[in-house]
Amino acid sequence: MIDSGLRDRAGRHVTLRSVDDDNWRDVADIAPRDDQRTWVAALAARYLVLTMRSDVWTSLAVYADETVVGHVMWGVDDDGSRWIGGMVIGAAEQDRGVGRAVVRTLADWLAAQAGGSVVRLSYHPDNTPAARLYTSLGFTPTGTLEDDELVAELRP
Ligand SMILES: CC(C)(COP(=O)(O)OP(=O)(O)OC[C@H]1O[C@@H](n2cnc3c(N)ncnc32)[C@H](O)[C@@H]1OP(=O)(O)O)[C@@H](O)C(=O)NCCC(=O)NCCS
Repeated sequence: MIDSGLRDRAGRHVTLRSVDDDNWRDVADIAPRDDQRTWVAALAARYLVLTMRSDVWTSLAVYADETVVGHVMWGVDDDGSRWIGGMVIGAAEQDRGVGRAVVRTLADWLAAQAGGSVVRLSYHPDNTPAARLYTSLGFTPTGTLEDDELVAELRP
């Protein structure tokens, strides 16, 4: 479990946990709002399949107290940089402060690895909510594009 002790605006304790035999169905069913499907997969199930097929990515279940409310994944690039991807908070759970707690928790955990790693992520240029969230947490655009998404990084 990755736990920075952060809470959402309702006071729920936000933690990141392994996807396991008990929670994988709830994680797979996590869906963004319909209007967000141009930016991310329609269901977190897509990311679970990706991480099962990949040596690079690891999926995590996002919990608010004991409820699964989202999916996020992390990976290590060839240059040793850490990446955050597959970030989806379920439609009914958005705008409650969960996403902020998730990015802070995972970015801190990843940055602490290997004696201080750069942490990168990418987002669709039109995804204003994601851009605001990441920028407010210190991520800065690198000026590069990856799969038509803007890359941003947090330096140690
Ligand atoms: C982007 C996303 C992960 C944010 O998660 P969340 O739990 O709703 O975010 P929070 O409630 O913690 O809000 C964090 C910040 O995000 C931004 N934000 C969230 N919703 C927003 C909206 N509708 N419009 C503009 N900014 C918004 C704000 O900067 C907000 O700051 P605040 O904490 O001062 O209010 C969530 O909206 C989501 O899952 N979207 C669909 C999938 C997606 O786009 N993932 C990112 C792919 S790169």
